[in-house]
Amino acid sequence: NKLTISVIKADIGGWVGHSAIHPRLVEVATEELSAARKRGLLIDFHVTACGDDLQLILTHRQGVDNEQIHKLAWDTFVKGTAVAKELHLYGAGQDLLSDAFSGNVRGQGPGVAEMEIVERTSEPVLVFMADKTSAGAWNLPLFKMFADPFTTAGLVIAPGMHQGFRFEVHDIREHKKILFDCPEDLYDMLMFIGTPGRFTIKHVFSRADGTIAAVSSTERLSLLAGKYVGKDDPVMVVRAQQNFPAVGEVLEPFRYPWIIEGWMRGSHYGPLMAVPIKQATPSRFDGPPRVACLGFQIADGRLIGPRDMFDDPAFEEARREANQVADVLRRHGPFEPHRLPLEEMEYTTLPQVMKKLEGRWEKL
Ligand code: F6R
Ligand code: MG
Ligand code: MG
Repeated sequence: NKLTISVIKADIGGWVGHSAIHPRLVEVATEELSAARKRGLLIDFHVTACGDDLQLILTHRQGVDNEQIHKLAWDTFVKGTAVAKELHLYGAGQDLLSDAFSGNVRGQGPGVAEMEIVERTSEPVLVFMADKTSAGAWNLPLFKMFADPFTTAGLVIAPGMHQGFRFEVHDIREHKKILFDCPEDLYDMLMFIGTPGRFTIKHVFSRADGTIAAVSSTERLSLLAGKYVGKDDPVMVVRAQQNFPAVGEVLEPFRYPWIIEGWMRGSHYGPLMAVPIKQATPSRFDGPPRVACLGFQIADGRLIGPRDMFDDPAFEEARREANQVADVLRRHGPFEPHRLPLEEMEYTTLPQVMKKLEGRWEKL
């Protein structure tokens, strides 16, 4: 009897600005999902937020990409949007890119990470959520979790992990995918995943038994909508222990504040700061970008949790370093490498400025 874990998220309105969500949105979503659990569509759920993104964590038996589940999420976001409009929350309905649901939330604005699993006797699962960043933000941490023995001791000393992991990488520009078997394919894979704006790790599988270890959301709102409509703040789900990295090995990559794209107006590089949910409220220069992680034990589909995994003094140094990196980058103001390169900012005022200056450029 297979179990599906679905994490579906959308920014349907910020409070205040893009810094957080209003508690009423969590209430509305909880009412909707409670009703769905009562009528048996869901086994269990947890509603939370990371920055201005409302997060629906769902367990059910309907499989991935299921129309009923996606419709439930969509309807929940629509209900939430009505409340967001009532409260004049900022950017109400921002991520609902179409007016009507068309069978699947993929490509319609919300972000989705789903995996179907055979539940183990004990099933520890970690749900990661990031705000003020983009789909590729998980590349480096996923690489470290599943392919770097300096992060994950199990790759060397755990029999179930010594064979390594298989990575499914998507080229989100050309809409292609490829599988890399690590460690053999490590150097080939790094050639691509080092450009996270184009290549993203979608799935990771155990090579010991082929089971799924991790899934990320790789939607790109800016590509979907054809214009800038916010960053596609990503989510991911990671299974832990036994043939997978231990919980602490999964969390270890977040000891360092990796520099990623996002932050103010989705147009700057900034450090990814690992925080508890209550601190996942990016305010300074609309950031710096945040990552939060909730842990659950799964019991016959029920979500036993959450535990707020970065609510640990051991991550205080990571946060302090993130603030230091933030200061160094902020000093550069509108200069690279704080601000993204021009090509990455097509949705900005560049075309207008170019047009205005048309007659003033002279041949050299
Ligand atoms: C970044 C983000 C914010 C907004 C900024 C301007 O992902 O959401 O930094 O880009 O607050 O927002 P608008 O254009 O809505 O005034
Ligand atoms: Mg927003
Ligand atoms: Mg957001």
